[in-house]
Amino acid sequence: MDKQIDEILKNAEAQISQAKDKQELTLTSAKFLGKNGALSDLMKGLRELPNEEKRSVGEKLNILRDKLNALVKEKNEAIEEAILNEKLANEKVDVTIPVKPASFGTMHPIEILKKDLVDYFVAKGFELKDGGDIETDYYCFEALNVPKEHPAREMQDTFYIDSETVLRTHTSAMQVRTMESQQPPIKMISTGNAYRIDEVDATHSPIFGQLEILVVDKDVTMADLIGTLDGLVKHLLGKNAGIRVRPSYFPFTEPSIEADATCPKCQGKGCSMCKETGFIEMLGAGMVHPKVLEMSGIDSTIYKGFAAGIGLDRLAMMRFGVSDLRDLYENDINLLKQFK
Ligand code: DAH
Repeated sequence: MDKQIDEILKNAEAQISQAKDKQELTLTSAKFLGKNGALSDLMKGLRELPNEEKRSVGEKLNILRDKLNALVKEKNEAIEEAILNEKLANEKVDVTIPVKPASFGTMHPIEILKKDLVDYFVAKGFELKDGGDIETDYYCFEALNVPKEHPAREMQDTFYIDSETVLRTHTSAMQVRTMESQQPPIKMISTGNAYRIDEVDATHSPIFGQLEILVVDKDVTMADLIGTLDGLVKHLLGKNAGIRVRPSYFPFTEPSIEADATCPKCQGKGCSMCKETGFIEMLGAGMVHPKVLEMSGIDSTIYKGFAAGIGLDRLAMMRFGVSDLRDLYENDINLLKQFK
């Protein structure tokens, strides 16, 4: 009997250790521990043994069962560990693999310019006012002294949503909204898109950026306006740049001017960019018309104001040396990311 037990144990050790996976281990362990396995066979033989041997053989078989169970358990744990190790090895992150560089976007040139202008004016104490792209006819035209049949409306023909609602043709509407909501002193800027029915070409687009400036106070004069514009041009184009002022007409200012800036390409000498004039048209401005002040609830006998509206697109073209406005709107990332 002892020999048989030793044999079974030896075979079990050999075969259990060979099991490659859980399935094989189950089959192998059944050969020794199962209902018809080797241990069972020996147990069945117990009955035939004389009583005095039964006890000691029974004990030996119990020990054998414990040993077999221990072998299976040990093997089972080894297999589980191997499975886990394999899983870990497969999931390992190789930190030495070079990473793909993340691609960062850049700000759009017009946004860069806008931010620069806003920073410049905010540092000088101007308040930044946010307006909407959709305006009423009143704020866009009427309150700026452009009544319904005024010919100046033609110059700014726009997209009507209904007869009283328009896509704003200029940021000047924000002058009115500001004056209605606060009394002087007012120093404000507002910036955003404006819309007009314009054919797209190298210098025109039906959507374009503008910056509006408005100052209203007791002793505001044309000299303040010109000084402000001159400072702005020097900030943008360098200290040798300046402005040239021409008389003009806007219904909402009296007197009205247009201001040109020194051509940044030829520094005023004359070149193809400025059509040999040495200057580039930059903005419209003037002293706020007393009627406009009054319509917004400001006493024009006490207060005066100056205002200006700057087109941002052409300024961005000048600043970044872009010769065709369409390049700024075609979302060509390779082109746009050159501007920083
Ligand atoms: N709103 C005018 C335009 O878009 C520009 C302008 C002219 C704005 C004179 C002003 C101004 O504030 O005073 O053509």
